[in-house]
Amino acid sequence: MNNPVDEKAGLRLSPAGAARVEALVAQYPTKASALMPCIWVIMDEVGYVSEAGVDFLTEKLELTRARVHEVLSFYTMFRTEPQAEYTLQVCHNISCHIMGARPIIAHLEKRLGIRLGETTPDGKFALEGVECLGACGLGPCLQLGKHLYEHLTPQKTDDLLDSLRKGVVPRADTDREFPSGGETS
Ligand code: FES
Repeated sequence: MNNPVDEKAGLRLSPAGAARVEALVAQYPTKASALMPCIWVIMDEVGYVSEAGVDFLTEKLELTRARVHEVLSFYTMFRTEPQAEYTLQVCHNISCHIMGARPIIAHLEKRLGIRLGETTPDGKFALEGVECLGACGLGPCLQLGKHLYEHLTPQKTDDLLDSLRKGVVPRADTDREFPSGGETS
C-alpha cells in the first residue's frame, strides 16, 4: 500500500493489482458494477484515489468522472489524497453517541495526543469523527479501512493502538470485503 502516484505517468498498479481489476471487470454483469471493488484495489495499493486513479477508473469502467467522484465522495472510507498510515474513523452519530462514542473519542485524543480531525506528527494516525457506519447496535464503533471494531471500550481501544503501533492490524469484529478476484486485505 501507499505506492507513490506519478500523476503525469498515470496510475500504475502492480501486476497483482492489475489482475484483480481485470478479474473484477469480467466478474460483474456491467463494468460500472465493478466500481467500488476496483476503488478498493487502488486503495489497497496506493492508499488513496488520485486524479490519475479517477482517470484509470473512467477508462477501465467506461464511466464519467462525475460518477467516479460521486462514489468517492459519498463513502467516508475512500480517500482522494494521501493519508495517515492508519485513519481511525469513530462514529459519532446518535446511536453510538448514546452508547459512549464521546468518551472513546476523548480517550483516543488523549492516547494519540491529537484532537479529532488531526493527524499525529509522525503521520501514523489520523482521528476522524464520521456519521453512521451502519452498525448502530454495535456501538461505539470505529472503522479502519474495511475493518470495523465494535463495542469499543478504553481497553479495546488501547489494544488496537498498541497493535497498530507494531504494524499489525488486529482481527476486526466485522470485515467489509468485496469480491475482488484475489487478495482483499
Ligand atoms: S450511529 Fe454509529 S453506526 Fe450507526
